[in-house]
Amino acid sequence: MNVLGIETSCDETAAAVVVDGQRVRSNVIASQIALHQAHGGVVPELAARGHVTAIVPVITEALAEAGIDRREIDALAVTAGPGLAGSLLVGINVAKAMAYALDRPLVAVNHLEAHLYANWLAEPDGSPVTAPLFPVLCLLVSGGHTELILMTGHGRYRHLGRTLDDAAGEAFDKGARLLALDYPGGPAIQRAARDGDAQRWQFPRAWLGDTHDFSFSGLKTSLLRLTEQYRIPTPTPASAEPQTPSGPFPVHRPPRYVADAPIADLAASYQAAIVEVLAVKTVRAARAAGAQSVVIAGGVAANTALRSRLEQEVAAQGGELPVRYPGLALCTDNAAMIAGAGFYALRRGEQAGWDADIHPRLQLVEF
Ligand code: KG4
Ligand code: ZN
Repeated sequence: MNVLGIETSCDETAAAVVVDGQRVRSNVIASQIALHQAHGGVVPELAARGHVTAIVPVITEALAEAGIDRREIDALAVTAGPGLAGSLLVGINVAKAMAYALDRPLVAVNHLEAHLYANWLAEPDGSPVTAPLFPVLCLLVSGGHTELILMTGHGRYRHLGRTLDDAAGEAFDKGARLLALDYPGGPAIQRAARDGDAQRWQFPRAWLGDTHDFSFSGLKTSLLRLTEQYRIPTPTPASAEPQTPSGPFPVHRPPRYVADAPIADLAASYQAAIVEVLAVKTVRAARAAGAQSVVIAGGVAANTALRSRLEQEVAAQGGELPVRYPGLALCTDNAAMIAGAGFYALRRGEQAGWDADIHPRLQLVEF
């Protein structure tokens, strides 16, 4: 079954054709990074306008790359939420129009569920994956979410924990801003950390007792305090604003720099704090829930330090727990994962009507 997936929840306009929830025939992504880079984060209004311009060419390219005519699409899957309302609106209306015109079923997909289903897609070289064994402990780490979810079967989820404040991706993005690194911050911190000393600073780790929840806001504040003493070499436009705000209120901190910031060591120590908590708590939750396998998903799952720390932790906590992560290009937002999740939703008999709508804060249904 050829499913056309459409994704416009944030700053990527994406379309893909996936066969039977596994084989990726095409996966086209028009990134808006250049549009938002100057602002250090996604500007919702710019994102929505960007999707309007890009969506039709992206779908056309996805069909061409897959080598199929639009009449060979068997079903459509589109992200309904969570995401930016104006952005979601573009994808869902295009999908509804196409489903209506072609007389094909349409399924509304939860973006978070789709990230998890990236782990069921074939490897980048096309070789099939062995499906993760249920129950699967899923660590979902993206720009807006950090969740531990126990997946007991297709479409069946139990939330075990979540972040109480910042998401892991947000911690990377905000940390990168403090260090005047590029947006998005995750890849930038990973690059900067490559030659850094991850032991130089012990940033705070929020363990939160035996819970499966996370907290990263203290870590971010700790980086802010530490960087105050340093001169940050190449500020991005956003952080290059004057240090002294004009107005009637006193400035809270006069800069007193001692040296240029050791960016590599700061990035490496900061990254180590994030990935250690993620890895340890994930494996601990998997053991506690009796999971048969672990998957990670979402943009932060592309982080190589997280991948190796997770494997190290599995070994440290007794081994024998298969860990799976999607191919690098399938970790960050894409439409192949939407088509993949859509296939399994259709197989369960789910189908959206013409009243399909956007759900900016859509949650996974719990069983
Ligand atoms: O899943 P995603 O593409 O979009 C959301 O649904 O949020 O995730 C984007 C997030 C950003 O915060 C970005 O900084 C982070 O994923 N990210 C990374 C890496 N690549 C992307 N974080 C750490 N290391 C990476 N290599
Ligand atoms: Zn995402």
